[in-house]
Amino acid sequence: MTIMVTGGAGFIGSNFVIDWLSKNDEQVINIDKLTYAGNLQNLKTIEGNLKHVFVKEDILNRKKITALINDYNPRYIINFAAESHVDRSIHAPDQFIQTNIVGTHSLLEATRSFWNDMPNHEKNNFRFLHVSTDEVYGSLGSNDPAFIETNQYKPNSPYSASKAASDHLVRAYYKTYNIPVLTTNCSNNYGPFQFPEKLIPLVLHNAMSGKDIPIYGDGLQIRDWLFVIDHCNAINAVLKTGKIGEMYNIGGLNEKTNIEIVNLLCETLDDLLPKSDATSYKSQIIYVKDRAGHDKRYAINASKIENDINWYPTETFETGIKKTVEWYLHNQDWVKNVTSGDYLNWVERNYS
Ligand code: NAD
Ligand code: TYD
Repeated sequence: MTIMVTGGAGFIGSNFVIDWLSKNDEQVINIDKLTYAGNLQNLKTIEGNLKHVFVKEDILNRKKITALINDYNPRYIINFAAESHVDRSIHAPDQFIQTNIVGTHSLLEATRSFWNDMPNHEKNNFRFLHVSTDEVYGSLGSNDPAFIETNQYKPNSPYSASKAASDHLVRAYYKTYNIPVLTTNCSNNYGPFQFPEKLIPLVLHNAMSGKDIPIYGDGLQIRDWLFVIDHCNAINAVLKTGKIGEMYNIGGLNEKTNIEIVNLLCETLDDLLPKSDATSYKSQIIYVKDRAGHDKRYAINASKIENDINWYPTETFETGIKKTVEWYLHNQDWVKNVTSGDYLNWVERNYS
């Protein structure tokens, strides 16, 4: 048997593929365009594993993707491929529309033609799982209840709007064509292999390189943080027992302000890698201009996936952050590799 993953050289996708192969005997076809965010180094530990087939391809190439799906006959297609960074979507939204909306549509069309020709006995087991975000629901006030699956979509950034559009397309392919889809809407992830443009790896990288640690606005925005392997476990659980056509919120019950996160990261580094002059990494924190349209708060109510699927996170924030900081400390070669090249140009444009 075979599963197909798109975007499996990115942060969450690569964690998913490695985790999958450590627990299953089933082959993974990993399709990734290798944008600046896709990195084959993330998959180094499974190099030479014959159960892993990597194909450098764009999900927009419908002809090629259709041929791949037909050749490999996967029982699951899991769509991680996306442009994923809010700040980039503000500077240059076009690629977000292309990959996140047009790309997801193209993948759905390729899936539809495959599904139409699929023998009935295989149809029962097939699933198309679309990996989405809590950002589609918009921003919460400090006393609002956490997002539930029936909340109205109110995306505020080109990134979240493009993800919202893709979620609607996925839903439509279930309602109109009966494709057995599942959608997961997860909170902010952290863990190994996250590109240092997102808050946690960026803070760790800047702190260790002696650079400023930029806090947007007042730093009081709130996110709900989940360790990436808990997200992967949730996706596996939804694939196994999720109800076709449904959405599942995934979250870690870890609401923290950005400044709390940054302080905790600095304190963890103070312990694990004390500076030679004995000052705290906190002295590198600077407050910078706020992000346009910056969402104030995200919070996930994960009751549905907990009650219906019996999924719960296994890492606490403290254990997950410790693992993550240690991983970045022990994988400085990886960090050096990704911080050369396009990343530097991006940092210049974003922070100059
Ligand atoms: P990422 O940016 O690290 O990885 C995205 C991957 O998709 C990269 O490997 C990239 O090369 C690939 N890709 C981009 N465009 C492509 C295209 N046109 N064709 C094929 N491959 C393409 O993103 P991530 O953080 O791993 O996020 C994965 C998914 O999870 C995304 O759909 C994102 O919206 C969603 N998500 C992310 C988070 C988070 O905190 N990172 C939270 C919730 C949901
Ligand atoms: P980010 O990791 O980009 O994820 P998202 O915008 O999808 O939630 O940012 C997390 C939070 O951290 C967000 O409120 C923006 C803030 N932030 C900073 O304050 N400084 C930074 O340098 C970055 C990258 C983010």
